[in-house]
Amino acid sequence: MNARNIVLSVALAAVVAAHFFVSPAPDAPNRDFLPGMVYSRAAEAFDASPLLAGGRVLQPPPAGTVARRASLVTYAATPADAVRAGTELVAPAVEPADGARGAALYGTFCSPCHGGAGVGDGTVVKRGFPAPPSLLAPSAVGMRDGQIFHIVTYGQVNMPGYAAQISEEDRWRVLAYVRQLQRSGK
Ligand code: HEC
Repeated sequence: MNARNIVLSVALAAVVAAHFFVSPAPDAPNRDFLPGMVYSRAAEAFDASPLLAGGRVLQPPPAGTVARRASLVTYAATPADAVRAGTELVAPAVEPADGARGAALYGTFCSPCHGGAGVGDGTVVKRGFPAPPSLLAPSAVGMRDGQIFHIVTYGQVNMPGYAAQISEEDRWRVLAYVRQLQRSGK
């Protein structure tokens, strides 16, 4: 046995022996090594910061970038742009699961005015709101998908826009449901 092995054996014996003297305290928290790293202070989004550009934590997005899921649809809220949207926008393919979603959205956001069947006899209309034209009428049936998408996004005359309440994908699902109503209402 050389000297190093003796030292290591003594150290091992000391550690094993220490185990019997240090009583375990399951309720006490363990000791943190470098607590400043364990509990780093998170910066608040609207805090001032001496380190970052502009003296604030929140940084503007780099020029030319587009946020994920941001809409690239930009139209003016005018009837002319609704027609333009009709010629430019193409409705995405409808998945089987979209049907139920579109129906639920229609029931929540459209039926109060347009009525469950789309003929313009919703609850709000029965209480005096100006009745919308029937969605089953030739004018609405003949509208292109993109034009109806535009109307749901930006509104039309007495109808408010729903861009803030219904996501872009969901607005297409509502459109698919309106088309379904039109097909079954004929
Ligand atoms: C607050 C009542 C109201 C709600 C809610 C509403 N609409 Fe309308 N909508 C109207 C009115 C009123 C018009 C007619 C506007 C006008 O005078 O051109 C209209 C027009 C339309 C038109 C054009 C019809 C045409 O022939 O010109 C479409 C399409 C349409 N709405 C779809 C929807 C869809 C889809 C929803 C649900 C996302 C919805 N609307 C929610 C009131 C409403």
